[in-house]
Formats: sequence, structure tokens, C-alpha cells
Amino acid sequence: MTKLLEVHAICKYYQQKQGWLPGRRICALEPISFSLNKGETLAIMGETGSGKSTIAKLIAGADVPSNGEIWLHGKRLDPHNYRQRCRDIRMIFQDSMRSLNPQLTIGKQLSEALKFNTNWNLAQQTEHVLQTLSKVGLLPDHYHFYPHMLSTGQQQRVCIARAIILEPQIIVADEAFVALDPSIRAQIINLILDLQEDMGISFIFVSHSPEIVKHVADKILIMHRGKMIEFGTTEALIHNPQHQLTRMLLQSELLNKALKHTTTQE
Ligand SMILES: Nc1ncnc2c1ncn2[C@@H]1O[C@H](COP(=O)(O)OP(=O)(O)O)[C@@H](O)[C@H]1O
Ligand SMILES: [Mg+2]
Repeated sequence: MTKLLEVHAICKYYQQKQGWLPGRRICALEPISFSLNKGETLAIMGETGSGKSTIAKLIAGADVPSNGEIWLHGKRLDPHNYRQRCRDIRMIFQDSMRSLNPQLTIGKQLSEALKFNTNWNLAQQTEHVLQTLSKVGLLPDHYHFYPHMLSTGQQQRVCIARAIILEPQIIVADEAFVALDPSIRAQIINLILDLQEDMGISFIFVSHSPEIVKHVADKILIMHRGKMIEFGTTEALIHNPQHQLTRMLLQSELLNKALKHTTTQE
């Protein structure tokens, strides 16, 4: 079976521009490899600064790896062809309100992607936008709303609508749901699970919450200081973790918070 996503030894180095040692090479991500099947959900966990967002950005094409390759459906992705990538792999951002254009109605912003990526006429675009709004639990009236007229949960639904409108293979979410209050977060997570089942989309998300990860993920990747220290099925990592960090990250919200506190003090 061809894997949906194959990540071969991607890594990311930055040149330090300011500070005491300008020009010094910063290693944000040491070479990592892993793969994902169609419809699977991968959770990326690790303390702050461990390279989680770097992985999310490299996969979504928001940044270019220093080395390594990413393959989708057995084809190598061109790291510089963002347009090709953004049709198949979409990203959901953390701050939904800021990622929406305050001056455009929801309908207009959702139509944008269709305008550039399909040759549909206006009526076809509108029809598809209305169908997508309904898929994410919004009403046809919301087509004419501006972002500030929506609640935070509804704004997050618009972001999900924007992510699924081109029917991508993979959605990448980098701590996208942390700002939501728990009941809305639960609704959004359930919405994503429903969409996955309906559309067969794979989902890669960065999370600090063991409860959400255990509930949603098929596979988990654990990061520590730019290195992947463990990767496997959720089942295997819960029942037979190979590293103390994996055990701690998956144990409880409380322990997780304590761990984050101690690592940021280092
Ligand atoms: N544009 C950049 N320039 C320099 N260093 C960066 C840049 N982006 C990330 N880093 C560094 O790479 C490391 C990993 O960052 P990141 O992937 O954002 O971590 P995480 O999401 O796990 O908190 C950090 O040490 C961070 O400071
Ligand atoms: Mg991050």
C-alpha cells in the first residue's frame, strides 16, 4: 500500500541574525522520518521549542526544509511550489480571528480559494461555499457575515471550512484549539472527527493535551530539543512508552503543565 505522506529525513537550520553570535547556525529540527496513511491522525507533542511548529510548517509548505524530502501519494513535493502543496495540505492557524480578513464577508473569503484553484463560475463557487458552510455546522446566512459578527467557535468553524474547501488530503493544525474554552473545543474536535470520517482527510496536529491526543490520534510523535525521540501508535505509546518524556507528556494535564514549567525554566 502506498503511504499517503512520507517524510524522509527533513531538517531545518536557521542562521542567527541578531544577538551575541550573528551567523551562528541554529538547529530547529534534526533529520526526522515518519509516514502516515490515508485518514490517519498524527499528534505531535513535546515541550516548548522542541521543533513541533517547525515540522507543521515544513509539511504544510509554509517553510522550506534545509534538507530531506516530503512525498505525497508516492510523488515528491516540490518544496518551492507552495500552490501545488496548499491544495493538498492545508493549515489551520492558532488565532482564528487574526487569520480571517476583517474586511471580507465569510462567503467572499471562502470563495477566494475556489477562484484561484478551480474554473467554476460564480454560481458554482457559491453553491460549494454554502455546502462547505453546512458541513462545518454554519448556516447559509453566515455567508454574508463579517468575522467580527461571529463567536470564537464560529470563527474557528470558518477556518475549518477554509481548510476543507478544496478537499485536501491532509490538514495541519498547530495548537489551533488552545484558545477555545473547553466545551467549544470539544465541539470543534468532534467536528474534525466527523469531517475525517466523511471526507477521509488525514489530520496532523500539535497539542499539549494528553486527553485530546488519546481521544483523537492514531499515531503520536514525541519531540525533544529538535529531535524525534519516539514515534508510534497511540496504543503503543500509552502502554509501552520507551522514554520517560513520553510517559510524562501522556500522563495527565497537571503533570504536563508542571513539565512545561520546568523545561521553560532551564
Ligand atoms: N525563524 C526562526 N529563526 C531562528 N530560529 C527559529 C526560527 N523558528 C524557530 N526557531 C527555533 O527553532 C526551535 C524550534 O522552534 P519551534 O518549532 O517553533 O518549537 P515548538 O513549536 O516546539 O515550540 C526553537 O529553538 C526556535 O527558537
Ligand atoms: Mg510551536
